Amino acid sequence: MQKHSLSFRIRSNTVDRDPPRVIEIDASPEEIERLKQDGYLVRERLVQGELLEELRVAADAVEADALAHSKPGEGKGFGGLFIRSLIDKHPAFLETLFRFEPCLSVARAVLGPQVQIHATVLRVAYPGLQNQDVEWHFHQRVVPDPEPAWFHRPVVVDNLIYLDDLTEASGPLVVLPGTHLVNQDLPSGDFSDKPGQVVVTCPAGSCITSHSSLWHRALSPHPNHQQKRRLLILGYSPVWQKQIDRPSAIHREGGLTDSLLPNADRETRELLGLEGYY
Ligand SMILES: [Fe+2]
Repeated sequence: MQKHSLSFRIRSNTVDRDPPRVIEIDASPEEIERLKQDGYLVRERLVQGELLEELRVAADAVEADALAHSKPGEGKGFGGLFIRSLIDKHPAFLETLFRFEPCLSVARAVLGPQVQIHATVLRVAYPGLQNQDVEWHFHQRVVPDPEPAWFHRPVVVDNLIYLDDLTEASGPLVVLPGTHLVNQDLPSGDFSDKPGQVVVTCPAGSCITSHSSLWHRALSPHPNHQQKRRLLILGYSPVWQKQIDRPSAIHREGGLTDSLLPNADRETRELLGLEGYY
């Protein structure tokens, strides 16, 4: 993989305050091009060894905590377990995900330098549990029809980091390349195969980076598959957009990100969603 750098200047009247920002991108120019055109990029085994193990341990701890007061499949929407705001809940997630350059730098390559953490989520799929298929959908469904002249479609860069192998048996992800560039209705309840769809499988530790408007769905684990499947979702958005997982630090609600505030530099405040718009 050939890293490269991009330099961005923010067009403002205050050059001293906004010098050019150079981003060292943990991906090749070809990979960024693929992400732009297809709407997604698979990087196999992006997380390996001790780090992968550390994330699994943290995921299991957060999962055990959640299972103490709820059952998988009880939440609204999809089957399995869905836990938000991971960086406020476990120190390993705060340390690892807050400045995870392989994902952060790629988000900055396509969104510009001023990004915030939009969401940090754990999704666990369980063997034998019903209703774990996820229908075709895209995120950020806020686009008026007809689209007004000055409307800008909001974009989140989602990173799906699989902590277990993503296989035909464990319940793969299905994407429809290029759909992040079209703007049309996608009715709910559609689980059908579509021409051009790609069934994505990859080994544990792999990361799928995607545009929030990309059409995608997830299949249930095969009935004979015996292991749970753990997935981290790390989303980035431009810092002037509303986050779905608002970090505790914004209102000092007692979560782990509160600890970042006393020594927060500008980048930290941006990632928390506290700075970068004016
Ligand atoms: Fe999704």
